[in-house]
Parts: sequence; structure tokens; C-alpha cells
Amino acid sequence: MSTNAAFPPYESTDDSGNVVGIDADIAAAIAEKLGLKLQIDDMDFDGALAAAQSGKSDIVMAGVTVNEERQLVLDFTDTYANGVQVVIVPEGSDITSIEDMQGKRIGTQRGTTGYILCSSPVEDGGFGEENVVPYDDAIAAVKALKNGQIDCVVIDNAPAQELVKANPGLTTLETEYANEKYAIGVAKGNTALLDAVNGALKELMEDGTIQSIIDKYIPA
Ligand code: ARG
Repeated sequence: MSTNAAFPPYESTDDSGNVVGIDADIAAAIAEKLGLKLQIDDMDFDGALAAAQSGKSDIVMAGVTVNEERQLVLDFTDTYANGVQVVIVPEGSDITSIEDMQGKRIGTQRGTTGYILCSSPVEDGGFGEENVVPYDDAIAAVKALKNGQIDCVVIDNAPAQELVKANPGLTTLETEYANEKYAIGVAKGNTALLDAVNGALKELMEDGTIQSIIDKYIPA
């Protein structure tokens, strides 16, 4: 599987360099069901999507939001988790609502739905491409926020909570920017693989494995 391991709790690397997190655990459970050996390749987010698209990796699991553009180039399994785009700001920021973000410098991870949404024109609910700075990963975006290079970061809720916990002085706005669903991507037309992964995923949903993996990393 291909992933981008800078997105805790879905994927991050532990002290020994292993990729750990919700996606790694779910992928391991799917591989076990299918009698396959799991190999995880960590790369940038765009690269992780492209690897599955070209069949270089069998699946991409990276907290990937299903959207129309991606459905043109990848097939997706059933969804296994929900995501919400939220806004990270420094405590005391003058940004207290989504509207306040107009004209501000917004950081996102390159290639993510956060980038796509924010960089769309104002009339489409975005803030204009010129106001959005793409970073290699969320950790780099948060670093830039702490250094004052940008005014806020738009990212999925679960990593936002982890990043805020790890970086005192940052907080998230209460308002949610967009609701999304995560699924596993496979090369377009690889129906055999899609069906196999979906079958395993279905069993793991029904027996509660998926929920217990999510609960382990995101305590209620
Ligand atoms: N859910 C968002 C998207 O699909 C962000 C995913 C980023 N994932 C990662 N592993 N860095 O665009």
C-alpha cells in the first residue's frame, strides 16, 4: 500500500520508522483476511495517490477523501471513516469564523481536499488560489503557522486535534468547513482487487474491528 505518513492518527512513523496508525492497522487486518503480506510505502500524498493509480501500489490508504476528480482516476472501496475539514489558528487569532479567512494566508497540504477547497474561487466557497500556500505535509504547514508565515491551516479534524495537542498555543475553530468520507483507492478497472478488499472491509466493519481500531486511536 502507498501512504503519506505525516497524518496522525491515520498514519505516522514511530521511533523505529514503522508506519503506524488507523490506516496501517486496517490494512494489516485486510491483508490478513486475504492471506497477503502487507508492505507499506511512505511517500508524499500526491505520489501515494499516483502509485495506486498506476498500479505501482495495490492500494492507497492515506485518509483519502472520495471526491469526483479522484473517482475519475481511481476506484474506491466503501468508506470506512468520516473526516471533517477544520481550521487551526494560533490562540487569540483574529480569525474566529470561516468568513474571517478571506484575504488571509491559508496553509494546506499539497494535493489534499483542504487545498482543493480553499484554493477554489470565492464564488465557489474557497478563498482564491493566491491566498493558499501548499506544504509538503501537515507538519510543515503547522511549523509555518507557528513561525507566523501563514495565518491558519486547513486540515482534517483528527490530525488537527493531534497537531494542536503537540503544539501548545494553537487551537481549532469550532466551525466545520467541509464533511468528507475516507475510502481505499485502487487502480481503475482492477475489479478483482476492489472486490477482494471490499469483501474483507465489509467483514471487518460487521465484526466491529474497524470501529475498535478507530476507537483505539481516537478516544471518544
Ligand atoms: N482527507 C484529505 C484528502 O484526501 C487529506 C488526506 C491527507 N492524508 C495524508 N496521509 N497525508 O485530501
